[in-house]
Amino acid sequence: MNKQLRKAIIAGNWKMNKTPAEAKVLLEQVAPLVKDADCQVIACVPFVDLQTALEATKGTNVKIGAENCHWEESGAYTGEISAKMLTSMGVEYVVLGHSERRQYFGETDETVNKRTKAAIAAGLKPIVCVGELLWERECNITEEVIARQIKLDLFGVTAEELKNVVIAYEPVWAIGTGKTATADQAEEVCGFIRATLAKLYSQADADAVTIQYGGSMNDGNADELLSKENVDGGLIGGASLVAEKFAAIVKAASK
Ligand code: PGA
Repeated sequence: MNKQLRKAIIAGNWKMNKTPAEAKVLLEQVAPLVKDADCQVIACVPFVDLQTALEATKGTNVKIGAENCHWEESGAYTGEISAKMLTSMGVEYVVLGHSERRQYFGETDETVNKRTKAAIAAGLKPIVCVGELLWERECNITEEVIARQIKLDLFGVTAEELKNVVIAYEPVWAIGTGKTATADQAEEVCGFIRATLAKLYSQADADAVTIQYGGSMNDGNADELLSKENVDGGLIGGASLVAEKFAAIVKAASK
């Protein structure tokens, strides 16, 4: 992390977990544990939990995010939720392009790009996820894959808009597998993402972007991962569902 240049952010990605009643319990446990955090704390929760989550975190330093949004403002898109619907509730962040969306729901860099631009236009701060498959890493094309995703997912996003974008580097092979990238692997790719952003924008613009690592980050490995210059936080799946574990990661990012 380099807190002089950019904000450290620890975000929970709850995925398809927790009913509204369970969300309330978890957030009421989390909020007091992270109240002195020296980083931004976010919980990205299922759509049906958003209202409860916003109420449960009112007056705390925990911000609420959604896990996806559509690119149109409204219309015949059964089952979808627009960025404007989210901002109208007071939601500030949204996870976009998560590998589970890409893998199971057919999302492509094109749709991630459309969602990203729509989120920004509506005033949401997108957490744009990129990451290589194990096969791609084994074939030594991690950098090609990541550069392509960054270029496509952020196509048309201006330097001014980039200030409100967070990037999450999530190697697909590390998500939910208990297999974490080593701190050096995370640093290597997060640094590469920053270099790619510097080419597309400017070094100063790139230096200001928060780049998170995600993929089996937990209370045991957070310290080491976050000690790296280009790892500015974490997108936390499994460990965000346990208040003490999530709070321990927030504590590591607060150092
Ligand atoms: P995990 O998930 O921490 O459970 O590996 C991370 C993510 O998918 O964002």
